[in-house]
Amino acid sequence: MSRTLCVANQKGGVGKTTTSINLAAALALAGHQTLLVDMDPQCNATTGLGLAPVTRHPLVADTAIRHSLLASGIERLDVLPGSGSFRDADMLANAKGQASELVVDHLRSGAMIYDFVVIDCPPSLGALTRAALSAANEILMPIQCEYFAMEGLTQMIGTVKQIMLDRPGELTFGGIVLTMYDDTLELTAEVDLDLRQFFGEIVFDTVIPRDVKVAEAPSHGLSVLDYAPRSRASRAYTELCMEVLERD
Ligand SMILES: Nc1ncnc2c1ncn2[C@@H]1O[C@H](COP(=O)(O)OP(=O)(O)O)[C@@H](O)[C@H]1O
Ligand SMILES: [Mg+2]
Repeated sequence: MSRTLCVANQKGGVGKTTTSINLAAALALAGHQTLLVDMDPQCNATTGLGLAPVTRHPLVADTAIRHSLLASGIERLDVLPGSGSFRDADMLANAKGQASELVVDHLRSGAMIYDFVVIDCPPSLGALTRAALSAANEILMPIQCEYFAMEGLTQMIGTVKQIMLDRPGELTFGGIVLTMYDDTLELTAEVDLDLRQFFGEIVFDTVIPRDVKVAEAPSHGLSVLDYAPRSRASRAYTELCMEVLERD
């Protein structure tokens, strides 16, 4: 059975897109057929791999999503490109807070031929993120080690719990990953300790270090694993991938 991981956090700039791209690349590199789904109207997961966003989001189109898949340039990794069109976001938002059935159906049927589906969510708890959560088995939450890291988490966890109640046993908390980790900062160690005390084993052992290579890679249309395979961040995303595989 395929595993659908929803990479979500209502805050922007915490490393959702970076984690989506690089975890998907690491899973593909480890031999798994993987699909990266770009659900963010900003389309950074699409452009970050050197691909072009589409005018109409494949998840709200009438055709099956297999017609919209793009090759990523990485073996075993396909991309379902994002779309900046507001119309699509509106269509999803009209679903009265509930996930649009069409989107969820498309995601589930598209997921079937893959071992892993990684969904990059927008920085909100709106209709797009809800739809992604409704189609996913696991939520993976990147958190930046900064002073306000915990802020907004209660709301996020509340939403996740609601969806978990609607679909008992189908959505689990896949894990929290600490991103942009700077071990020279005292604050980083404090936030790390707080999160691990609060969330326990949910927090992955692997942390993603702050590494300029991560920020450079998208401008070359590459994952950091391809752009700088020997970098600290590339190794960290490979280790994160191993932990995700172990948590099956
Ligand atoms: N480990 C890291 N080291 C350095 N820069 C990072 C790292 N992770 C993310 N960034 C940079 O931080 C910014 C926000 O990351 P992004 O993945 O786009 O966050 P989100 O999708 O949550 O908004 C981007 O410019 C990205 O290149
Ligand atoms: Mg993003």
